Amino acid sequence: MSAMLEIENLSVHLDGPDGRRLVDDVSFDLADGQRLGVIGESGSGKSLTALAVLGLLGHPLSASGSIRLSLGDGDTVDTVSAPGRRLDGVRGRTVGAVFQEPLASLDPLMRIGAQLAWPLRRHRGFRADALRRAVLDALAEVQLPEPERIARSLIHEVSGGQRQRVAIALALAAEPRLLIADEPTTALDVTVQAGVLELLQAAVENRGMSLVFISHDLPVVAGIADRVVVMRGGRVVEIGDTRRILTAPREEYTRTLVGASRALDDLLPARPAGSDGPTSGGTE
Ligand SMILES: Nc1ncnc2c1ncn2[C@@H]1O[C@H](COP(=O)(O)OP(=O)(O)OP(=O)(O)O)[C@@H](O)[C@H]1O
Ligand SMILES: [Mg+2]
Repeated sequence: MSAMLEIENLSVHLDGPDGRRLVDDVSFDLADGQRLGVIGESGSGKSLTALAVLGLLGHPLSASGSIRLSLGDGDTVDTVSAPGRRLDGVRGRTVGAVFQEPLASLDPLMRIGAQLAWPLRRHRGFRADALRRAVLDALAEVQLPEPERIARSLIHEVSGGQRQRVAIALALAAEPRLLIADEPTTALDVTVQAGVLELLQAAVENRGMSLVFISHDLPVVAGIADRVVVMRGGRVVEIGDTRRILTAPREEYTRTLVGASRALDDLLPARPAGSDGPTSGGTE
């Protein structure tokens, strides 16, 4: 399989005299159609790595190293060094993004239908009636009820869960080859989290997209990712097959992280007594 994404020696630093490194020499890659989970404590550099892939770092942050994204025709673009104008055509088209806070990618003043129409027109060439139908189809695909009403609504006129579904529809509209989801359900009410996750998973599967899925929720990562990258302090601690990382972590830090996620135990075969690593402690 060819590579969708190749990150080599990525560092992100603060501009200025002290130039602190927030992401430090990170390398990993992602094959076409593969789903990669990124886990690690708060502040470990997960979001900055995602923003670097999207070419969205700006002052006071700069990146070095390289991030090669496949454009699907044998051509690649390096989102660290490519000029902003080149990246305008890559974001949305090649790589789509869903963030923790749906408002991060939605315009509060523009009707939802008009926001969706933009990438459908620009990247997929829909016009007139076909465009109207494509907007409604995009809303129906993310299982929003009454697509007609939602299309006419402003973003504050729909619920938080519905907003995130709209944000997902927007990220999918141009049919990107890679989707980056950075804590896509963390800000949502627990009652709607599972539905949004299922939807995301179905969309990735149906379209054969590659996925970078950033989350604190290890059971969710276990269900969605083929491989996992563990980050801490801006560096990659460990990388491997999801099952291996979660059942037989090699690094102490990963063991602690996995041990802390007690709910994960439900998804894994019982470990023989006495053989388990650190757990979150406490009584049953
Ligand atoms: N614009 C910025 N200016 C200065 N420091 C920043 C900026 N953005 C992020 N940082 C710092 O970089 C480090 C990595 O941040 P990042 O947002 O990537 O963490 P994260 O792993 O996504 O954490 P979380 O799980 O809390 O979302 C943190 O120490 C953070 O405070
Ligand atoms: Mg983050």
